[in-house]
Amino acid sequence: MDILTGIDSVRARLRAEPAVALVPTMGNLHEGHLTLVRRAKQLAGCVAVSIFVNRLQFGANEDFGRYPRTFAADCDKLREAGADVVFAPDETELYPVPQQVLVEPPPIADELCGAFRPGHFKGMATVVLKLFNIVRPHVALFGKKDYQQLCIIRAMAEQLNVPVTVVGVDTVRGADGLALSSRNGYLTPEERQRATLLYRVLTGIRDAVQGGNRDFSALEQQGEKILDREGWRVDYVALRAAATLDPAGPEDREWVVLAAAWLGNTRLIDNIEFVSKPDSLL
Ligand code: PAJ
Repeated sequence: MDILTGIDSVRARLRAEPAVALVPTMGNLHEGHLTLVRRAKQLAGCVAVSIFVNRLQFGANEDFGRYPRTFAADCDKLREAGADVVFAPDETELYPVPQQVLVEPPPIADELCGAFRPGHFKGMATVVLKLFNIVRPHVALFGKKDYQQLCIIRAMAEQLNVPVTVVGVDTVRGADGLALSSRNGYLTPEERQRATLLYRVLTGIRDAVQGGNRDFSALEQQGEKILDREGWRVDYVALRAAATLDPAGPEDREWVVLAAAWLGNTRLIDNIEFVSKPDSLL
């Protein structure tokens, strides 16, 4: 496995590769990331993983400074998972001049997480496009854990004609249902126990919709109320059409229920994609 920090060196390394898969990450890797790497290995002969904590996608009061950086351990895990190339640029390599050219993401970027993290998706889309242009992958893999991020990247690649196939990978969870996340490491042991409530609230809403409940705003409000009652600070619980992230209508059949909420000082997000039977079959 080659560990490279320069744009020129990564391009030189990949130039002769017939098929490259890219897995962009911010490091502190867990089984979720490694599942993307293993899937990537099935899709292309050469798997490149980027590790870069992208300041541009963090708000002024967010956790950029304390985001966990575990580079040596990450490289050990990537070697084990079969990655071929690690691209780990420093900030001056990726942002040698102030980044004044930014990707304007689609309007959905202002909703859900975007409403609570202004500028986040613009910074995210900008670095992902830069990584696409540096690595020029044939395929790039992203987790459904960050469902809104995946939708925005799909739209960007499509509307800016980036010659890459974007692949979404199912969320990897702990045995108790909690979605794996680098930010889970911020939780106290007591919070870690309580954190499973987020997934349980989402499964409850999924089950209700699959059972025929179409009172979406009541379901969203009930979900928020349960979290609130248990001491969470809720950003949102929202039921949306899976393909577009538009507010769900009764005629939709493919849904996603998404939530973001704070447990103490940690903001957790999760979602579940699901399909619903036609009303006539309920
Ligand atoms: P990061 O949070 O490190 O996540 C890197 C990739 O791993 C993302 O595609 C994310 O959706 C995926 N991932 C994280 N947890 C997962 C889980 N439990 N199951 C499946 N996939 C999971 O997302 C980012 O970094 C950044 O925004 C990035 C795209 C790298 C741009 O800076």
